[in-house]
Amino acid sequence: MSDNHLPQDPRPVRDSQSEMAEIVLPNDANPLGALLGGRLMHWIDLAGAMAAHRHSRNYVITASIDHLDFLVPVRVGDLAILRSSVNRVFHTSMEVGVKVWVENYISDSCHHVSSAYLTYVAVDRDGHHLPVPAVIPESDEERRRYEDAGRRRDVRRAELEHRRQRSL
Ligand SMILES: CC(C)(COP(=O)(O)OP(=O)(O)OC[C@H]1O[C@@H](n2cnc3c(N)ncnc32)[C@H](O)[C@@H]1OP(=O)(O)O)[C@@H](O)C(=O)NCCC(=O)NCCS
Repeated sequence: MSDNHLPQDPRPVRDSQSEMAEIVLPNDANPLGALLGGRLMHWIDLAGAMAAHRHSRNYVITASIDHLDFLVPVRVGDLAILRSSVNRVFHTSMEVGVKVWVENYISDSCHHVSSAYLTYVAVDRDGHHLPVPAVIPESDEERRRYEDAGRRRDVRRAELEHRRQRSL
């Protein structure tokens, strides 16, 4: 980690919450007109990175993406809405939650498509890891996500260590 960077003042979750919307076009879909999972994963990564950039005010790299379920299909012409927020900051890394919704403006419907937890590491231009300012959860929901993020980090670290041991 670079020694030249000290962590900045803590920031509330709301300061970096982000939203991204995409109209699903034929180039985003399979031959049956359903959104490709890989395209949605790309959008999830971008939406997560927006909150991570805005919170850390630095460059970030994606360290991991947790398990993903696709709960309902998204079709050409639908509107995909992605909302992201920083759940918790650890040291140089932060967990960001991204929730995806699909809206159809003809049928006036809205469904939850997917939720994902991503970990980003803040870096400078040379790739040195940087400390990230703490995040302040304000609402009950944000406090719940903050607590849950700590438990998920423990699981992630244990699994990573397990995989490292197995590959030795
Ligand atoms: C992720 C990466 C930065 C970790 O580097 P490392 O030297 O192993 O880092 P460290 O062990 O010092 O960990 C740095 C931080 O990342 C976290 N981290 C490392 N691997 C992680 C993983 N797989 N999942 C979640 N967090 C992870 C650590 O817990 C630590 O967090 P903290 O500082 O908040 O405590 C490094 O593996 C990397 O650069 N990977 C490639 C990332 C990339 O190219 N992403 C784009 C997709 S291709």
